[in-house]
Amino acid sequence: MPSYCYFKKKIVPLEEAQVGVMTNSIHYGTALFEGIRGNWNAAKKQTYVFRLKEHYNRLLDGCRLLQIKLPYTVDDLCQITLEVIKKSGFTEDIYLRPLAYKSTEQLGVRLHNLEADFLVFPIPWGRYLDVDLCRCGVSSWIRPANNMIPPGTKVAGIYVNNALAKTEAIQNGFDEAIMLGADGQVAEGSGENIFLVIKGKLVTPAVHNCILAGITRDTIITLAKNEFGLEVEERSVARGELYSSQECFLTGTAAHLTPVGEIDRRIVGDGQIGPVTKKLQERYAQIIKGNDPKYMSWCTPAL
Ligand SMILES: Cc1ncc(COP(=O)(O)O)c(C=O)c1O
Repeated sequence: MPSYCYFKKKIVPLEEAQVGVMTNSIHYGTALFEGIRGNWNAAKKQTYVFRLKEHYNRLLDGCRLLQIKLPYTVDDLCQITLEVIKKSGFTEDIYLRPLAYKSTEQLGVRLHNLEADFLVFPIPWGRYLDVDLCRCGVSSWIRPANNMIPPGTKVAGIYVNNALAKTEAIQNGFDEAIMLGADGQVAEGSGENIFLVIKGKLVTPAVHNCILAGITRDTIITLAKNEFGLEVEERSVARGELYSSQECFLTGTAAHLTPVGEIDRRIVGDGQIGPVTKKLQERYAQIIKGNDPKYMSWCTPAL
C-alpha cells in the first residue's frame, strides 16, 4: 500500500515528497525529528496514535533550540498527522516520522536567516529491536553533553553519535549499544532509555544524565508507580550497576519495552525476562493498542 506525506502544506504520495540537494539540513543536520507510533488494533479496526501531543510538544521545544518557527500549533500538527494517517489507510502497526527542517536551499553553517518547513509521513513498521532478549554492549562513544548539542532534543545532527554507537555495537556482535555520559555514568541506548531493577526498585538515569527524556520512559515510570506500586529512582547510574542489576530493559517509541538479557557478555539476572519487566511489558502492550480504558487519553484514534 502506498504511503502519503504532508509536504509543503499538501498531502502528496510519499515518492513525490522530494527536497533539493542544496537543502541546508541535509548538509548540517539542522533538523528535528520525532518518532511516533500508530498501533493497529485489529479487533477495533482502529489505529491508536500513542501520546501524540507529547511528541509534538517535544518537537516544538526542540524547534526553539534550532530557531525554527513553524506556523503550526501542537493541535495543528496533531490534526495534520491524523489526516495523513487516514489518507494512507494502513491496517497494521505504523511509525510516523515528523521532521522540522531548515529548508532553504543554501549552504552555510548557521541557524539564522534560513526558512524552515515541516513534513510528516507514516510507514508500516513492526519490531525495531527484533529480538526477545537484547544483547547490549557498552559503547566507546559517549553521549554529547548539554553544552555540545543538548541530548534532550531530537536534533538530526546529534544522531551521528547514536549511529556510531549502534554500528559499533552490531559490528561487535551485540544488538544495541548502551552509551555513557562524559562523566562515565550510564546514559541510554542509541534509540532507547534504559531501566534497571535493583533490589526491587526501578532505577533509570535522570534527565541530567545526558538522556532524551523519553515519552515511553515517562509512560513506564507512571505505570510502575501507579499500577504496580514500585519505587522508581531517577538518578545517576554507575556502569557497574549494569552488571549487578537483577533485571534490565530498554524503552522507546520504536523499541517499545525490550528486555535485556546480556550486557558486555555478562548475563543479566538469570538471563530470562524478569518478573518486573514482564508485567510492565504486558501492561504497556495493552495500553498502546487502546485496550486499557484507564489510559485511553494517551491513545488518539486515527481512522
Ligand atoms: C536517544 C534516544 N533516547 C531515548 C529514546 C526514547 O524516547 P521515546 O520513548 O520518546 O521514543 C529515543 C527515541 O526517540 C532516542 O532516540
